[in-house]
Amino acid sequence: MKKTILITGATAGFGKATAELFAASGWNCIITGRRKDRLTQLAAALTAQHSIEVLPLCFDVQNRKEVFDVIEQLPAQWKTIDVLLNNAGLALGRDSFEAANLDDWETMIDTNLKGLMYVTKAVLPLMIEKNRVISLILVQPLAKKCIRTATDTVPPNTLWTPFPKPCV
Ligand SMILES: NC(=O)c1ccc[n+]([C@@H]2O[C@H](COP(=O)([O-])OP(=O)(O)OC[C@H]3O[C@@H](n4cnc5c(N)ncnc54)[C@H](OP(=O)(O)O)[C@@H]3O)[C@@H](O)[C@H]2O)c1
Repeated sequence: MKKTILITGATAGFGKATAELFAASGWNCIITGRRKDRLTQLAAALTAQHSIEVLPLCFDVQNRKEVFDVIEQLPAQWKTIDVLLNNAGLALGRDSFEAANLDDWETMIDTNLKGLMYVTKAVLPLMIEKNRVISLILVQPLAKKCIRTATDTVPPNTLWTPFPKPCV
């Protein structure tokens, strides 16, 4: 039976690259993000290139209700999730502390911290006792190494946070 990974923030960057790697390794993929057109495009490309299934889910990880509603409404066949990759996020507020824009801080906390917590809290009950969680945030060369490792050897029942997001 094929395994399933849920990747948040799969419309670009690390998340998209991870979806491509896992799909190429024969995993079914739940891909998420806010840009529906990109999700639809990626889902079509992955299913055309590999013998797998892809479920695109369009939602904002900052929106607590949206996150819980979407996960609760997952079709039954998608409720077995083997790996959760908490990748959705961004890097704002890199100014000096005194020049920083408080809105940037709020967005970072709402996305990178609270978004990760909402998704994990919603998805974890579907994974407990059998599976794995990965929180991935790091620079690209290391990300590639970790993703490859994940497709091969991560032991079950592991909360794997190789390079945690700030605050997590
Ligand atoms: N690149 C780096 O060197 C680096 C270094 C350290 C940490 N990171 C972290 O690694 C992660 C991926 O980085 P990246 O460089 O691949 O970024 P990216 O190319 O900008 O991709 C970010 C992804 O996150 C999604 N996303 C952002 N805000 C979201 C929200 N509110 N709700 C749902 N999805 C959201 C975006 O999708 P939509 O826009 O479609 O929603 C996109 O798919 C981020 O969490 C970033 O903070 C990256």
